[in-house]
Amino acid sequence: MQSRRSFFDSLKPRDVELGEKLGFGAFASVYKGKYRDEVVAIKKINGLSVGAAQAYDREISAASEFSHHGIVGFKGGFRRGGNYFVVEELMLGGTLSELIKRGEPSTMSQFYSLFLPIVEGLAEMHERHFIHRDIKPDNILLSTKSHPYKAKLADFGLTRWVEEEERKRMTIVGTVLYMAPEILEELPYSFECDIFSLGVVFLEALTGKKPAMDKARNDKYLISEDYIDACTFVMKDVPDNLIALIKRMVCSPSALRPKAREIVTELKTLQKSSGGCCYIL
Ligand SMILES: Nc1ncnc2c1ncn2[C@@H]1O[C@H](COP(=O)(O)OP(=O)(O)OP(=O)(O)O)[C@@H](O)[C@H]1O
Ligand SMILES: [Mg+2]
Repeated sequence: MQSRRSFFDSLKPRDVELGEKLGFGAFASVYKGKYRDEVVAIKKINGLSVGAAQAYDREISAASEFSHHGIVGFKGGFRRGGNYFVVEELMLGGTLSELIKRGEPSTMSQFYSLFLPIVEGLAEMHERHFIHRDIKPDNILLSTKSHPYKAKLADFGLTRWVEEEERKRMTIVGTVLYMAPEILEELPYSFECDIFSLGVVFLEALTGKKPAMDKARNDKYLISEDYIDACTFVMKDVPDNLIALIKRMVCSPSALRPKAREIVTELKTLQKSSGGCCYIL
C-alpha cells in the first residue's frame, strides 16, 4: 500500500521564499513571503515535536483541503532545517483585534457583513467534524485595511496539535479570555466551545472592549448574562435579538448553545431588518 504524503511534504522548500516578519503568536512566527510567483503568508511553527506533527498530520491535511471564503486558505506545508512551516493565504488588513482597537464607528449592517462569512465557514467546518478551539479576534484576519472589510477565520486545523504542548503559552497570550468554561475546567468539549468563543468575539466587537476578567475568581474569566446586561449601555443600537443570541452562545451547559448553522440563519434575519450603528466595525 502506498503511504500518504505528509502535509509538511506537500510543498517543495525551494519553491518558498521567506520575507519580512509580520507577527508572532503563541506557537508561531508569521512571515510575508513567496510561493512560486504568489505572495503568501508563511507560518513557522515553534517548538513542535516530530511526534505531535505526525499525530495530527491527517487532521491538518484534511482541514487544508477545505476551501471557503470565510476561512483563510492553506497552500500546504514544508520542512526546512528541522522546522515546520505552513504556507497560507496572505491577509493584508491585519487582525480583528487591531480593528476593534481602532474603534471606528460602524453600522450594524457592516457587523453582519463582516461576521456572516466567518459563521458560515465555521458551520461548514463543524459539519465536517472540525473544531477550531482558538477563536479570538487575533485569529480573525482582514483582507483590506479599510471598508468594506472582508474577514476570514485563521488557524483552522492548526490548534489541536499544538494544544497540549502549548496550552500554557496560549494562556499567557490571552486566549483564555475566549475559552469556554468546559475547556478551562478540562471537561470533555466539542463544537460548542467555538460557539462560546465566537459569542465573546461578537460582544467585544459590539462594545469595543475586551471582556473583563473576574478578579474574585482568581482572574478566571467567566462571562455571564449579568456581564452582558452590564454591557448593554454601550450597545444601545444593537437589536435585542442579537443580544439574546449572544447570551445563548455563551451559556452553559454547552448543549444549550445554538449551532453555527442556526446563528447563520439568525444573523441573516437580523441583517434584513438592520439599521442603526454599533460601537465598532
Ligand atoms: N495569513 C496571514 N496573513 C497575514 N498576516 C498573518 C497571517 N496569519 C497571521 N498573521 C499575522 O501574524 C500574527 C501572529 O499570528 P499567529 O497565528 O501566530 O498568532 P495569534 O493569532 O496572535 O495567536 P495564536 O498563536 O493563538 O494563533 C497575527 O496576529 C497576524 O498579525
Ligand atoms: Mg493565529
